Amino acid sequence: MVTAALRPSEVLVDETAIYDNVQHALTRLPKHTELFAVVKADGYGHGLLRTARVAQAAGATGFCVAVLDEALALRQAQFTEPILVLGIIEPAYAGIAAANHIAVPVGDRDWLTAASVVLTAAGTLPKLAVHFAIDSGMGRIGFRDAATLASAAEQIADSDQYTLEGVFTHFATADSPDDAYFKEQVAKFNDCLAALPTRPRYVHVSNSATSLWHAACHGNMIRYGVAMYGLNPSGRAIPTTPYELEPALSVVSRLSFTKLLHAGDAVSYGATYHASGDEWIGTVPMGYADGWLRRLQGFHVLIEGQACEIVGRVCMDQFMVRMPEPFAVGTKVTLVGRSGAAAITLQDVADYADTIHYEIACNLTARLPRRSVRPLA
Ligand SMILES: Cc1ncc(COP(=O)(O)O)c(C=O)c1O
Repeated sequence: MVTAALRPSEVLVDETAIYDNVQHALTRLPKHTELFAVVKADGYGHGLLRTARVAQAAGATGFCVAVLDEALALRQAQFTEPILVLGIIEPAYAGIAAANHIAVPVGDRDWLTAASVVLTAAGTLPKLAVHFAIDSGMGRIGFRDAATLASAAEQIADSDQYTLEGVFTHFATADSPDDAYFKEQVAKFNDCLAALPTRPRYVHVSNSATSLWHAACHGNMIRYGVAMYGLNPSGRAIPTTPYELEPALSVVSRLSFTKLLHAGDAVSYGATYHASGDEWIGTVPMGYADGWLRRLQGFHVLIEGQACEIVGRVCMDQFMVRMPEPFAVGTKVTLVGRSGAAAITLQDVADYADTIHYEIACNLTARLPRRSVRPLA
C-alpha cells in the first residue's frame, strides 16, 4: 500500500509515552525478570521498528512478534536481542528461523518431527531455539497434557537441532475481574511445568493484563504488549491499573473542504443524512481504507476542542462532519487524541464501533504515515 505522505492525515506516535510505560512495567518486576516487548502487527499500528527501538531504550531485553517475517524485519534492522515468534510457523521455514536466531513456539511432537527433516536437509545451522507452548485453557496452540509435553522434551533432549529455550502459556481471561478460569489455567500450567525434567531459560505466562493484575505469576519474562502502547488491556472492565498508562497514539487530519448546506441537502453514499437547516459541513480526507471504520458514522471528531458529528456514511477515503461554525480548510481535525480541553481515546472509538481498542489501532492502515512526537533524544 502506498503511504500518503502528501495528505494531511497521519498517525502520531508518542515515543516518550511508550518509553515511560515500559519503564513503569520494569520497575514493578522482580529482579531477573525480563520484559520482551510485543511489537507484532506493526507494533499494534504504532510502527514495528520505532516501537522496538523505544522499548529497547527503555530496557526491553527481547521481542515477541506474531509471524516470522516480523522477526526477520527486526533482524534486518540489526536488532540482536532474543526474538520469539508467538504463532506456529510452517516447519518448512524452520531453517530460516534457526539461521537468524529466532525462537519459535512448538505445540506438538509432529511439528518437531517435520521441522527436523527440514533442518537436516538444510545442513549446518545454529540450533533452533524452541519455546514449548502449553495450552492451559486458551484453546489456541500448545500441548494440552503433561505426558505429551514430557515426551516432546525427551524427543529434543539430546538433539543437535533444537534447544529448549522457553516454556509458556497464554491466559484467556487475565483481563477479567473474575479470576476463576485464570486460576484453573495457572494450575494446569504448573502441572505441565512440573513434568519437564529441567526448566528452560525462559518461563513466561504474562501478557500485559497478567503483568498488571496478576503480578504473582510473572515467570521470569513478561510479554508486554498493549500496555506498552498505553492502553488498558481490559478496556473498561478493570478501570484501575497499578501505574498510569500513557496512550501513545493519536490520529489527526485537516479539513480538505467545507461548505454550507441548507435544510434537506444530503450527505454521502445512500443519502442517509439530510441537513435539518443551515449547516456547516467539513470534509476530512480519511476513510475506511485508512482504517477509519464505516460504522463510525454518527461518532465524532474534535475541531478546536469541539465535538463535530460524523454525518453520512464514511467513504473509502473521505468522511464528512457537521461543524458548529465555518472552520477554514486546513483546520486541524483530531480523530484520536486531545484537542483543547476535549479528548477522544481509542477506547471511545472502540466503544462506538462495538469492538476493542486493539482492533482499532491495528486497523489503521499503511496508507497513514506514522510520525513520532516527543521522540527519544
Ligand atoms: C501469546 C501472546 N503473548 C502476549 C501477547 C501480548 O498481549 P497484550 O497485548 O494483551 O499484552 C499476545 C497478544 O496477542 C499473545 O498472543
